[in-house]
Amino acid sequence: MIARLLAVVALAGAVGSAAALEEVPFVTTPDNVTLKMLEMARVGPRDFVLDLGSGDGRIVIVAAKRFGARGMGVEIVPQLVADSRENAKRAGVADRAEFREQDLFATDLAQASVLTLYLLPDVNLELRPKILALKPGTRVVSHDWDMADWKPDRTEKVAAPDKKIGLEKSSRVHLWIVPARLEGVWCAKGERLEIAQQFQKARVEGRDATIQGTKLVLAQGTTLELEGESLRVTAAKGDLSRLQLLTFARAQGQPASCASR
Ligand SMILES: C[S@@+](CC[C@H](N)C(=O)[O-])C[C@H]1O[C@@H](n2cnc3c(N)ncnc32)[C@H](O)[C@@H]1O
Repeated sequence: MIARLLAVVALAGAVGSAAALEEVPFVTTPDNVTLKMLEMARVGPRDFVLDLGSGDGRIVIVAAKRFGARGMGVEIVPQLVADSRENAKRAGVADRAEFREQDLFATDLAQASVLTLYLLPDVNLELRPKILALKPGTRVVSHDWDMADWKPDRTEKVAAPDKKIGLEKSSRVHLWIVPARLEGVWCAKGERLEIAQQFQKARVEGRDATIQGTKLVLAQGTTLELEGESLRVTAAKGDLSRLQLLTFARAQGQPASCASR
């Protein structure tokens, strides 16, 4: 709560309005931080970038102009939506950068391959269940605020001399890659794998592992990939080399059993 208040006051300081305390106020992400966010998310022409609370539209416009992506910004302040459309026209990307007057909480996030956020810590947390339900591999970048115990896959600190708020003229950019949901028991031809998962971290048969989008990477170099409903072994090393060429399916029944496979 204290963190939220400090964060709101820090952001609201820039607009100096009591009403701003009700919502996430309008503060722009400096240009170099925008670039860092899009670079860390590896945005390219095949991406659809969705900026939640898009302000003057800069993130989606830069994604279209510099990285060739398409995208959409949703924003509740009508004047900012009008400004964004104008800015997109001026930048020559109006056909690839759309702006809607819309509540970010009522926005379908599934269309995004990259989600960009400059909101507040508890807004990020409120969005977290929806973000974790997105297609595995969706990249999420957030300016300054994190998502509590869902630790970022990467964080970078960037000098931000143009930052409108705060005493420290630097920003943090956090990147998460939405992990596949792999928790449970998986079976293949006499083999059984039990996966415990917490966000992008996993334990598989007593070994540490990470989930990188659709890939499950075990510490010893064994990797599996989620393909549809199947988990296919793509590399099998050391004492797990017996798993070579296997494809696992989720165990059936309650309790989960591999008996019929
Ligand atoms: C901190 S600014 C970030 C602007 C832009 N994304 C950037 O990084 O430059 C947050 C924006 O979210 C908008 N906003 C706040 N609550 C919103 C909501 N519920 N739905 C859509 N936009 C919202 C504000 O009007 C503000 O423009």
